[in-house]
Amino acid sequence: MPYKLTVNGRPATVDATADTPLLWVLRDILHLFGTKYGCGIGSCGACTVHVNGEAVRSCQTTIAEAAGKKVTTIEGLSPDGKHPLQLAWQEVDVPQCGYCQAGQILSAAALLAKKPRPTDADIDEALSGNLCRCGTHMSIRKAVHRAAS
Ligand code: FES
Repeated sequence: MPYKLTVNGRPATVDATADTPLLWVLRDILHLFGTKYGCGIGSCGACTVHVNGEAVRSCQTTIAEAAGKKVTTIEGLSPDGKHPLQLAWQEVDVPQCGYCQAGQILSAAALLAKKPRPTDADIDEALSGNLCRCGTHMSIRKAVHRAAS
């Protein structure tokens, strides 16, 4: 069945079954590969995107749930890849393997939209569902503060 949604500011119509995870719509149909598959069961946060401004796990969000809504992926966070968080991530040199970082940035962006000056505790709580096996969490905290300043 065709579903209409807005992805990174552009209208998209995708043909998929109602229970197709948004993650696979983004990657397999729309070829937006910045959103990563980590666990597929809602545990790692690698697949985090925004749906109507809220950070959600795209592996646990169906296309039927996303239909009619505004989806933002790492590719659409800023038109030029220079969102304050992306710049701060580069300046602090956060990524190691990099696999989880798009999800980390999307969760951080949702936090800053609600709390422009988050505390360490706010950052830790907002990103607690985004795992990083390289252990970049302290650098992430520093980068979020830098983007917020
Ligand atoms: Fe979605 Fe891990 S891939 S939470």
